[in-house]
Amino acid sequence: MQHPHLLANYARAPITIVRGEGCELIDAEGVRYLDFVAGIAVCALGHAHPAVTEAIAHQAATLVQCSNLYGHEPAGTLASELARRSHFERVFFCNSGAEATEAAIKLARKLAFRRGQTERRTILTCEGSFHGRTLGALAATANAHYHEGFEPLPLGFRYTPFNDAGALERHLDETVAMFLVEPVQGESGIHPADREFLETARRLCDERGVLLAFDEIQCGMGRLGTLFAFETFGVRPDLVTLAKSLANGLPIGALLIDGKAASGLQPGDHGTTFGGSPVPCAAALAHLRIRDEIDLSGNVRLRGAQLYAGLAELADHYPNAFAHPRGIGLMLGLPVRAPYEAAAFVNATRESESLLINAAGDNTLRFVPPLIVSEAQIDDGLARLGRVAQRLAGAVAATSR
Ligand SMILES: Cc1ncc(COP(=O)(O)O)c(C=O)c1O
Repeated sequence: MQHPHLLANYARAPITIVRGEGCELIDAEGVRYLDFVAGIAVCALGHAHPAVTEAIAHQAATLVQCSNLYGHEPAGTLASELARRSHFERVFFCNSGAEATEAAIKLARKLAFRRGQTERRTILTCEGSFHGRTLGALAATANAHYHEGFEPLPLGFRYTPFNDAGALERHLDETVAMFLVEPVQGESGIHPADREFLETARRLCDERGVLLAFDEIQCGMGRLGTLFAFETFGVRPDLVTLAKSLANGLPIGALLIDGKAASGLQPGDHGTTFGGSPVPCAAALAHLRIRDEIDLSGNVRLRGAQLYAGLAELADHYPNAFAHPRGIGLMLGLPVRAPYEAAAFVNATRESESLLINAAGDNTLRFVPPLIVSEAQIDDGLARLGRVAQRLAGAVAATSR
């Protein structure tokens, strides 16, 4: 439902969600939806996970906010836990993905400045990327569609084609402070980087004194089958941005910083009132502890392979409507062929099958379910999607055979 006083900046579906349970959302009419959106790659442990809920409630009753003028235990412990698991020495907390991007940009520029490399101001990103909607993150987002009407954007951003090592070699010159890249592009429609592209990026950044940053805001925190996306690719960046699923639904962002870059931001250089406040940090800690108890990575690999196989089968069955799926783990995309529109499948699966999926990039269906999704739920979701495909594209599939 569109509330009359909410700004109409989102094209919301005409349903009102009142509750979440595991991999399901329940609307005001009592309809239960199988949720393969998960808050857009946020609720890794599903909705209302009891351990996360309990950690939030306990922390809310203990300490909600004390500013960053003082230390508190949840942020310190979470930073240590992230450092232990990632082997990055320092962590900066903020409230969102866009803010994590902003922190990376500011750190890269200030580090170059501190090193006396005043010519290194440029942030290089990839065509098709998405790094957030605040003005710096928007300038880093190499997609004209998001820029239109918001110019002038901040200066000092340049773009290079995704997965083109030759172009990267040409663009990584002595003016570049940081190369920022998504290991799997999400908003452009689920496009994984080639391992060689990231390996070349690492080598060139080392040779040329440029910081390499991975935007793992969507593809990190286990979505690819490893806790960090950089582990999936075997390429270690200098900076990693995280947000979305870190606190399983509470607002948090983080910048993981390799020790050699940590002097970039010093007292007074950067900050945020709410960044790393106790409740989201407690939720994130509960989230990480649960990962120690269950084999989430194993589930992502199995369920990801199952979903991929089902989507590939659908593409084979309806070649007029779908191209081959893309993606890794539980971050998958099914490209829809014109004249079919991804939005029509999104609406039909919601309205007639109570399955929630969404569209990303260039006419692609995006599948980012909770990482706890079961074998039966993947089968169920595929069956629901299959019935919609049969209805929307079946007649053409039959006649084209
Ligand atoms: C890869 C990536 N980076 C940055 C962002 C921005 O995150 P937020 O919406 O929390 O500002 C997103 C959000 O979709 C994203 O997918």
